[in-house]
Amino acid sequence: MSDLIQKIKSLSEEYFEEILEIRRHIHANPELSFQEHETANFIENKLSEFGITNFERIADTGVTFCLEGREPGKTIALRADIDALPILEANDVSYKSKNDGVMHACGHDVHTSNLLGVAKILSQLTDQFKGTIKFIFQPAEEKSPGGASILIKDGVLENPVPERILGQHVMPLIPEGKVGFRPGKYMASADEIYLTIKGKGGHAAMPETFIDPIAIAGQIIVSLQQIVSRIANPKIPSVLSFGKIEGGNINNVIPNEVKIDGTFRTFDETWRKEALQKVRDISTSIAQAMGGSCEVHIAPGYPFLVNDEQYTVKNIAAAKEYMGAENVVDLGLWMAAEDFAFYTHEVPGCFYRLGTRNESKGITSGVHTPTFNVDENALKTGMGLMSYLAIHELNS
Ligand code: NI
Repeated sequence: MSDLIQKIKSLSEEYFEEILEIRRHIHANPELSFQEHETANFIENKLSEFGITNFERIADTGVTFCLEGREPGKTIALRADIDALPILEANDVSYKSKNDGVMHACGHDVHTSNLLGVAKILSQLTDQFKGTIKFIFQPAEEKSPGGASILIKDGVLENPVPERILGQHVMPLIPEGKVGFRPGKYMASADEIYLTIKGKGGHAAMPETFIDPIAIAGQIIVSLQQIVSRIANPKIPSVLSFGKIEGGNINNVIPNEVKIDGTFRTFDETWRKEALQKVRDISTSIAQAMGGSCEVHIAPGYPFLVNDEQYTVKNIAAAKEYMGAENVVDLGLWMAAEDFAFYTHEVPGCFYRLGTRNESKGITSGVHTPTFNVDENALKTGMGLMSYLAIHELNS
């Protein structure tokens, strides 16, 4: 084991209790997307305690700063998201959310405390690397249009321009002590679809007099599935799911209107545009053919997330040095979306997964559930590995 790895491991060990307390404080005080005011203040206070004072606000609740190495060189960026979700926590823990109905159910408390740990470790090791490390504490990963897109517009990738960007996310499917990587495309784009089907309501006994939006909705749902099964290139994974349908009040009245909400996910920008146009065309023409109409509203979400092949393969090798090859696993494609994707279309990036599962402690719940939690030992791995990957890239 190299001296550097030894040093980082012992600093991770030394700072672990402190970072654990930070994680619990953030977990107990979650804030929703774009409202992370106390979280941003807390991050700044901790950085000041660590002797880091050159931080700046970006997009109101984002915090960013640069750490300089022993001599000029490349710049790389490290990013953590800091927002929580509108979920009522069901965990019975001493650090349970004090903000009822808001919860760190996606591990962004872990990402934030982890990046503070990385800042503390790397601020002790500036003689070990050349170049610049830009830290990005990013608001609003969970809410469209995504904090990342706003930070990019506000210049987070300028002055200095990072040549690489690294992000880490908890993964309750991977045991604590392991991490996962995937070179190339990893997570899907996701767009929101809102259909409003209009007919003409009346007594259900006289359908010939009215236009039934429920019957039209049925046709539209079935036909839209043809986009994935018949029109999509089978080599490009696509998902079209409807999670909400709303219309009518009673068995014997044809309603005026039906609303259907859904999501479309895929891994190709050209196909993404084409598929959404098909959703528009098919929905409006079916409704029209059946005598009604359909309004289609599409709220664009995040693009697909692509991990730079070379950079990711390099990080896999470095992670194996740090953790042992047996603790670095391969990831499959993931149909969920993540706003880190915006960065990966600007800068070669790598978004990897930190294992947080521990069956013997009963820590198995998925992200975005009221019982989500992590094995906190993952913080040690998380801050150590990210510190090592940062230095490894700058010195190579
Ligand atoms: Ni998340």
